[in-house]
Amino acid sequence: MKIMVVGGGGREHAIIKKIKENPNVSEIFALPGNGGMAGDATLVPIGAKDIDNIVAFAEEKGIDYAVVAPDDPLVLGCVDALEEKGIPCFGPRADAAIIEGSKVFSKNLMKKYGIPTAEYEVFDDMEAALKYLETAPAPTVIKADGLALGKGVIIATTREEAMEAVKSMMADKVFGHSGDHIVIEEFLTGPEVSVLSFTDGKCVVPMISSMDHKRAGDNDTGLNTGGMGTVAPNPYYTDDIAERCMKEIFLPTINAMNAEGRTFKGCLYFGLMLTDKGPKVIEYNCRFGDPETQVVLPLLESDLLTVMQSVTNETLADTEVQFADRHACCVIMASEGYPTAYDKGFEMTIPAEIADNVYVAGAKLADGKLLTDGGRVLGATAVADTLPEAIKDSYALVEQIHFDNAYYRHDIGARALKAKGE
Ligand code: AMP
Ligand code: GLY
Repeated sequence: MKIMVVGGGGREHAIIKKIKENPNVSEIFALPGNGGMAGDATLVPIGAKDIDNIVAFAEEKGIDYAVVAPDDPLVLGCVDALEEKGIPCFGPRADAAIIEGSKVFSKNLMKKYGIPTAEYEVFDDMEAALKYLETAPAPTVIKADGLALGKGVIIATTREEAMEAVKSMMADKVFGHSGDHIVIEEFLTGPEVSVLSFTDGKCVVPMISSMDHKRAGDNDTGLNTGGMGTVAPNPYYTDDIAERCMKEIFLPTINAMNAEGRTFKGCLYFGLMLTDKGPKVIEYNCRFGDPETQVVLPLLESDLLTVMQSVTNETLADTEVQFADRHACCVIMASEGYPTAYDKGFEMTIPAEIADNVYVAGAKLADGKLLTDGGRVLGATAVADTLPEAIKDSYALVEQIHFDNAYYRHDIGARALKAKGE
């Protein structure tokens, strides 16, 4: 089988490595992929948002199955366009990807169907938003409506900060048209849990839970990033909480999307906060998380391609989805300065013995050398029987990888260890 994976980061590398385990797979194409994946996939220089060329390439090559991994092409209708040409796909159509593409849509969906989430108001007029803030409790959370590279959320601790945030989104348009509509919501507290799930619109199968580390610096300091590391499973996510989430959040969401005529098929990501009033949804993503995927898929014992195809064929209920009863830790190595300004183009060395444990996110090949080419450069993942071992082993991997200006957090997994009392 010829497989095509749309996207080019660490998440896509993890998906590609797992799909490769299926003996029926003859070739995997990554569009555009990145230089660090060259050993696992054929790189095709077509951007993930270039839907016309993605479709043309798939037809020309006779692709048997396509995985559309990033949010942008999903929201832009990449799956719809491929399916129109008869190419089976993993990923939601645009009408369902809106669950991530518009915060206003997802918040209104949760309100309509009684799915627990932070209280909120939607504004499309700046003066009204500023007036609302005069009496709203602080801290407040301000969210731009559309996709904003994970940066469209501002937690304002004071009223003044909240007003500045509203003005930057609605008047200065720092997130472009994403700021035409904004959500102002209640600030929640509690441990955060990421739960990725497979769903074919009929049933929902949660994957092993995970914990992201979003801040750039140790001890959760510094700016928000796309994610500096992950562990799985998440110790806060007990069996009791999982049962509650299935009943109160996962099934109601699938049913709500069906009721709206927007059946979701693919990977639905639940960003949850475990508050003292129970689990609540912080965000939905219409795709695998990054870097959650880099700890979740290494623990998947079942064949990923088989599971994905069962989602497409709506036979997920009859398909085994089994995770190892083990632990994984992924440490992201980034370029010093990420998530703001950073230099790139530094030569990378990854010993061949550990290449299977490394998911490359931002690299390019030039004259046979692998060079850094992004903010998040790679993730090093170790799987072990215990969480302390997984953490130790992932940092041992990091020690063996070199590039100038490498930056990483030293405390990935520390919070999880504390939660477990270890
Ligand atoms: P999002 O892009 O929606 O995932 O938000 C980014 C991060 O902001 C989340 O992972 C949370 O840590 C935080 N956040 C978002 N919404 C809230 C909220 N209502 N209360 C507290 N923290 C929030
Ligand atoms: N790690 C969070 C995300 O993928 O959005």
